Amino acid sequence: MNIDSLPRVRLASLPTPVEEMPGLSKHLGRKLWIKRDDLTGLALGGNKTRKLEFLCADALRLGAGMLITTGAPQSNHCRQTAAAAAKLGLGCVLVLAGDPQPADGGNLLLDALVGAELVWAGKNGRDQALQDTFDRMQSAGKNPYLIPYGGSNPLGAAAYALAIRELRDQEIRPDWILFASSSGGTQAGMVLGAQWFGCGSRIQGISVDWKAAPLRAKIAALAAETIHMLGEGEAVRADSIRIDDRFLGAGYGQAGDLEREAIHLFARREGIILDPVYTARAAGGMLAMIRQGEIGASESILFWHTGGTPAIWAYAREIL
Ligand SMILES: Cc1ncc(COP(=O)(O)O)c(C=O)c1O
Repeated sequence: MNIDSLPRVRLASLPTPVEEMPGLSKHLGRKLWIKRDDLTGLALGGNKTRKLEFLCADALRLGAGMLITTGAPQSNHCRQTAAAAAKLGLGCVLVLAGDPQPADGGNLLLDALVGAELVWAGKNGRDQALQDTFDRMQSAGKNPYLIPYGGSNPLGAAAYALAIRELRDQEIRPDWILFASSSGGTQAGMVLGAQWFGCGSRIQGISVDWKAAPLRAKIAALAAETIHMLGEGEAVRADSIRIDDRFLGAGYGQAGDLEREAIHLFARREGIILDPVYTARAAGGMLAMIRQGEIGASESILFWHTGGTPAIWAYAREIL
């Protein structure tokens, strides 16, 4: 199957802009661009909207009545899934990790506004709660469609292969592409896209929660499944899956000095807002790589902003 013949519904404003970052470029002594996937548009945007164009098309093809997915309480993926469901007239249940929290800030507020039902996994763990919710909705005749964690399956990865083609068509040729990597779908897609559409940039994921070895294995497996789904394409080379896990700090969702500095620098030099969990960690990693000379003085960088901005309101105390 050709990637362009995958069923797709329009949810995102594409192509997202590529902008120069003159203030940061001057400050850091490197040519810097930014790809604005925080502006994909659906309920304040983010990278998951690209994946949802394919995931939701598959749900509609199967006659689903509702979407179910899972994530952390401040999950951007859950918020965008709930918004996609609202736009497509589908129901939505979000299975969130941990105990109930008030839906009065960040992504949780937006989940409530777009009408998602929240199920808190509590002590039983997310996988069990997800299965229970799915069974309950199926028994109720709702024909649920399960979107995997992070939207990271072959359909989600295909969306990011196409995003690399989009960047190629914008005629930007950076030496490096840096971005936040977590459930692996974004990176698997980018690596495939780079191979298929002739992008010579170094695709560098900055891990926000996983050590490099398991994340690399996950991305390799996902890339292989994507090739299998499409029935064509060359296998990815292991050395093209570049992951840096030096910036995990105190763990997932724990914003520290690295994230704070990146948020303030992007805001004050470019008027661009990073999120405290994903993009600020990736940008903090980028700053460290520049300062340590790992990115050469003559090399250009594209920072791929993957969204997450609504979380800043849930992290005001940590990031100020
Ligand atoms: C803002 C943001 N950036 C990056 C990522 C990572 O994308 P992926 O899970 O495809 O690796 C996520 C995932 O939730 C995200 O919300």
